[in-house]
Amino acid sequence: MIRAGPEPPASAILSGVVADRVLVSPSPLELGAQVDVVLVGFLEDKRAELAALHPSAATLAEELLRLVRSGGKRLRPALGYWGYRAAGGVPDGRIMRAAASLELFHTFALIHDDLMDEADERRDVATVHANLRGTDGGDRVRFGVSAAILIGDLAAVWADELLLTSGFGPSPVVRALARAYAIRRDMAVGQFLDVSGEAGAGQGAGRLAANLKGGRYTVTGPLLMGAELASDGPAAGDLLNALVAFGEPLGEAFQLQDDLRDGDASHGATGDTIDQLVTAAEAALSTARSDPVAVAALRELAGMVRV
Ligand code: IPE
Ligand code: IPE
Ligand code: MG
Repeated sequence: MIRAGPEPPASAILSGVVADRVLVSPSPLELGAQVDVVLVGFLEDKRAELAALHPSAATLAEELLRLVRSGGKRLRPALGYWGYRAAGGVPDGRIMRAAASLELFHTFALIHDDLMDEADERRDVATVHANLRGTDGGDRVRFGVSAAILIGDLAAVWADELLLTSGFGPSPVVRALARAYAIRRDMAVGQFLDVSGEAGAGQGAGRLAANLKGGRYTVTGPLLMGAELASDGPAAGDLLNALVAFGEPLGEAFQLQDDLRDGDASHGATGDTIDQLVTAAEAALSTARSDPVAVAALRELAGMVRV
């Protein structure tokens, strides 16, 4: 939360603006905690549903709970939430459920990404396929891979269920789903460029892959999905344009930052490029005509990518 000096009066907190300071509430941390309450509650219900089908099936939901509880920045739910607020959406339980849907879809993407990368650890815990395989080797390897595919598939389907049952009306949900499907397409194409070796073939393809799998999937897509949920009619074109102008450079910066941390050079990441991209995102925000609290929150999220 952006705060300095004595506590402002409650009326000022409600309006979100105190003199030249803008209070960001909920902070990214608080928002993540609220999303987790929804997500964990949903997955616990799913565990009971699966256990009623067969006792061993509870594992499918338990693995998702394990991965969700192991950490993560909850960046996509935050961007979905603030895209909604930027478009004038009223904060309530519906947007928390839609934001949780973004995180559950991300959980699917991580499980399958770890399979593709043959990674045994994520967020400092065993990946799903590694955990289910155990240490015996042999047939358990095949079981671990097969179960991780199934668990990932369930996470993707349950992400849809969370959005469909978020409580928003049919029109915003259909428009948000269209955005969610674009997110999924972009992520799959970006991942495909990576695994096919296209991304490493040249600067252009590398930047495109970074933009699709990290950028649009993480930043622009969630922002637009959130914005679609804010009203019964289509979101205003100038707001969508502003979110894209902010999201595209920030999204690319996010993926390049992730690459730098992983020592992955395939998308051509450098600290300077990241800095330039975040600066471009911030500049786009400064001309956006939107709720000042949402603008301040997006600025704070952009700052998190720079460090
Ligand atoms: C990792 O995403 C996968 C990418 C798209 C680079 P995050 O860096 O958001 O991962 P978590 O959710 O915080 O663990
Ligand atoms: C993961 O990409 C992308 C998605 C989950 C869509 P990476 O392979 O670059 O990310 P990490 O480093 O495993 O988190
Ligand atoms: Mg990976």
